[in-house]
Amino acid sequence: MEGVMLLSIKQFGDAVLRTPCAPVEKVDLELNTLAVNMLETMYAAEGIGLAAPQVGLGIRMVVIDIPESEEDDEEEQELVIANGKEVPMRSIMPLVFINPVLEPYGKQTLCQEGCLSVRNIRANVSRPSRVRATLPQLDGKVLELDCGGLLARCLQHECDHLDGFLFTDRVSSAAKVTLAKRLKNLLHFNSQQED
Ligand code: NI
Repeated sequence: MEGVMLLSIKQFGDAVLRTPCAPVEKVDLELNTLAVNMLETMYAAEGIGLAAPQVGLGIRMVVIDIPESEEDDEEEQELVIANGKEVPMRSIMPLVFINPVLEPYGKQTLCQEGCLSVRNIRANVSRPSRVRATLPQLDGKVLELDCGGLLARCLQHECDHLDGFLFTDRVSSAAKVTLAKRLKNLLHFNSQQED
């Protein structure tokens, strides 16, 4: 097998981050290799989720790996419902999926988000606290997931990427005003960088 390749993460201002992605039509060796490289790229950048457009590819594929939270002891492990069965969240990690369908539900919850494509900016985003998700896997199986917590948050953030949205689009209008200058500076900074 070829060595793992770290991919360059596209930054705020790159048009690929604003372009809705096309469904994945065919799962081949190349796509499997891409998934491995996306995971390694995400780990190297210390992220918990990465969507294909973030590495410059306009296809509906996402990788996620959420670590066990440090406060959680055995008793309070985060649980999710995977294909109708309650299991520890960690047991389904890492997640690799294509063409996801999400159905967020539950109470709107405010939580701070960041993004590997929007360096050094974090902001509070309100999203529904839970998600039902249909997540086709690369092996042809489909994971039906019902979850809350950080995974529900991460799924919504990553799937937004597939539609050309960033978390900064989702902040309150008041927060947008304060964010605008920082984003403008970031855009200027990114435009000075070479690929
Ligand atoms: Ni992101």
